[in-house]
Amino acid sequence: MELNDLIYESTKSKTLEDGSFTWKSPSNIALVKYWGKRKDQIPENSSISFTLDNCFTETTLEFRKRESPMKIKEDVGFLNATVKSSFSKHEIFLDGKRKPEFDEKIGVFLMRIGKHVSFILDYDFVIKTHNSFPHSSGIASSASGMSALALCIMSIEKALNPAISDELFYKKASFLARLGSGSAARSIEGPLVVWGKHDKFEGSSDLFGVKFSESVHENFKNYQDTILLVDKGEKQVSSTVGHNLMNNHPFAQQRFIQANENLIKISEAISSGDLKSFISIVESEALTLHSMMMTSHPYFILMKPNTLEIINKIWEFRAKTNSNICFTLDAGANVHVLFPEKEKNIVNQFIVSELLQFCQNNHYISDRVGFGAKQIH
Ligand code: PMV
Repeated sequence: MELNDLIYESTKSKTLEDGSFTWKSPSNIALVKYWGKRKDQIPENSSISFTLDNCFTETTLEFRKRESPMKIKEDVGFLNATVKSSFSKHEIFLDGKRKPEFDEKIGVFLMRIGKHVSFILDYDFVIKTHNSFPHSSGIASSASGMSALALCIMSIEKALNPAISDELFYKKASFLARLGSGSAARSIEGPLVVWGKHDKFEGSSDLFGVKFSESVHENFKNYQDTILLVDKGEKQVSSTVGHNLMNNHPFAQQRFIQANENLIKISEAISSGDLKSFISIVESEALTLHSMMMTSHPYFILMKPNTLEIINKIWEFRAKTNSNICFTLDAGANVHVLFPEKEKNIVNQFIVSELLQFCQNNHYISDRVGFGAKQIH
C-alpha cells in the first residue's frame, strides 16, 4: 500500500452533517525499540511491540459541519501560530474537564493529517477523552490517545465512504496515528505489531504498523506486563527531543542495524517459544535505548536509582528461581516487568514483596497483552 492509496477521495463521499464516534485504544510496549526518526515520523529502524490491554484511552469525537470549510496550506511547517490555532475549531475534554493546553497539540495533529483526510476541514470537533491509567502516572498517553483519535476520524471517513475496506481502514488509522506520535502506529491492532519497513517481514511499512504475521508460541500467549511506577513526574527530556538527538549520534547507524537484526531474532524466539532468547533481546533493547540517551549530545539519563534497584532485584530473582521474568523500559524511569502467564502467581508475590518498595507510593499497574482497539459507538 502506497501513500496515494491513503488519500481520501471526496468524489465517493456521502453527506454527513453531524454525529459522534467512540473508540477505545490501547497503549503498547516496544520489545525492539524505535528511537530515531526522519521527517513525518518515519522510523530509522523497524520495531515490534506487545499491545496492552488495561492501559487504554477511550475517546469520543463529536463533529458538526461548519458553515464554511477551513483552508489548508500544503506545508504546515510554514504556518504561523495564529493560522495554526484557527485551523480547526476543536475543544478537548479530559475526564469531563476542558483542557485548553491540549488544543495546540491536537491542532498540529489535525493539520498534519489534513491532506489525507480532507473532510476534517468541513467540521468542528469536540474531543472527549479518558485514560484508564492515572494522568501523570509517567505512562505516556500519546500512543493510546493518538490512535483512539485517529480511529474516530477513520469512522467519519467510513461514514462518508462506506466502501472503504477493513484493511484500508485499519492501515490508514495506524498511518494517521503515526503522524500524531510514532509509536501510536502500533496501537491499533494486537497482540504483536511490527512497524517500519523490513525485508524479512512481508507487508511491513514505514507508514503504518502491521500485525506480526508469524506464529506466536503458547509461551507468549497472554503474556503479562506489570508496570512499576517509579517516577510519575514529567520527563525532563521529551521523546521528540530524544529522537532528534539520534541525528549525528556517533552510534546511530550501528544501532539501527542492530534493531533490524534484533527484530529477526525476536520473531524467531516468539515463534519457537524460546523464552531465554526473548529475555536477552528485550532487556538488551531496553538498556540500549537508554545507552543511546546517555551517549547523545547533550546526554541525559531518564532512569532513576530505583529503576536500577528493580533491575538488579529482577536479575537476582531470575538467577535464584530460574523464572522467565524480565524487564523493559520506555523513555522514562518506570519499569515494565514482563513474564509468562503461567508464572503469574510466583512473580506477583515477588513483585509485591520485593519491588513495590521502589515504586512511588507503591503504585503499579497489572496489565497483559491485548488484541487492539475496539469501537464502542
Ligand atoms: O512515539 P514516540 O515519539 O513517543 O517515541 C516512543 C519511543 C519509545 O517509546 C522509547 C520506544 C518505542 O518504540 O515505543
